[in-house]
Amino acid sequence: MILITGATGNLGKSAIDFLLKEVQPEQVAALVRDPKKAEALQSREVQLRQGDYEDYDSLLKAFKGVKKLLFISTSVTGEDRNRQHSNVVKAAKEAGVQHVYYTSIVNPSPDATFGATPGHFFTEEQIKKSGMTYTFFRNNLYMDLIPMLTANAAETGELYFAAGEQRAGFVLREDIAEGIVRTMLSEEGKNQEFTISSPQPYSFYDVGVALSKAAGKPVKYIPIPTQSMEEGMKGAGVPAPVIEITVNMADALQKGEFDHTDSTLARLLDREPVDLETFIKQLYSM
Ligand SMILES: NC(=O)c1ccc[n+]([C@@H]2O[C@H](COP(=O)([O-])OP(=O)(O)OC[C@H]3O[C@@H](n4cnc5c(N)ncnc54)[C@H](OP(=O)(O)O)[C@@H]3O)[C@@H](O)[C@H]2O)c1
Repeated sequence: MILITGATGNLGKSAIDFLLKEVQPEQVAALVRDPKKAEALQSREVQLRQGDYEDYDSLLKAFKGVKKLLFISTSVTGEDRNRQHSNVVKAAKEAGVQHVYYTSIVNPSPDATFGATPGHFFTEEQIKKSGMTYTFFRNNLYMDLIPMLTANAAETGELYFAAGEQRAGFVLREDIAEGIVRTMLSEEGKNQEFTISSPQPYSFYDVGVALSKAAGKPVKYIPIPTQSMEEGMKGAGVPAPVIEITVNMADALQKGEFDHTDSTLARLLDREPVDLETFIKQLYSM
């Protein structure tokens, strides 16, 4: 039995889609925090198991009989993340899970600027200590986030962002999901860490070029200081939590925390991952 956590989220849904192309639904279980959100999954005939990372007993029950666990990281950071993830790891161990596949982040470290990164470092350590077989997918930033970061740049022709000259190895969430599922169904990855990044890094100048080609008019990237970006977002009425995440991401980008490239994802997919220009072109053709 393979269980996917975060099954009502983007990555989890995508992983289930890829899994069901290869295995029977009876072999797949989905952990859902709120069964009311799981209507789409019901029609897929996978086993629905209720569980909340905050509720150890619910996890222990949900993980019974599971051999392979895709553990998708929580939405929260800091101490809340560490507590939730400790529950998941302990419950998986106690329930007899054999192999944990965990969605981590590039270059996990306890003192990174990016808010989610220390929690990934902590979780990797917990999983290693547990003695379960593990595979870590150290994911770079989702390419899917770019439309949120570029706002209406394609209309105005000006892309203001606070990433300086820095680059990131953006990857499409669907490619990550496919790479994870292919690994889970193979004998690959035992006690290994995979860096999941694009084979080439992308700066925000590259994002501007991709937007220009897709929109058919020039879009220029204009690097701005983080404080100006924050003030601009406040002035535009962007909600405070979104500003906080965006500012933190920009600071981490400026420090080069996402400037990683890697060929592992291409190897897992047996093809090149979707590149930035193709992704943005597809967005504009919809
Ligand atoms: N690399 C990146 O650029 C990047 C960007 C954003 C996020 N992430 C990380 O990657 C993860 C997956 O991405 P995504 O796009 O699929 O995120 P998402 O769509 O927000 O999905 C998150 C999933 O986690 C579940 N979840 C959250 N808290 C939980 C809890 N206490 N107990 C059980 N389940 C819980 C959510 O359940 P509900 O549906 O009930 O909320 C949802 O199914 C995120 O959770 C985050 O850790 C990475």
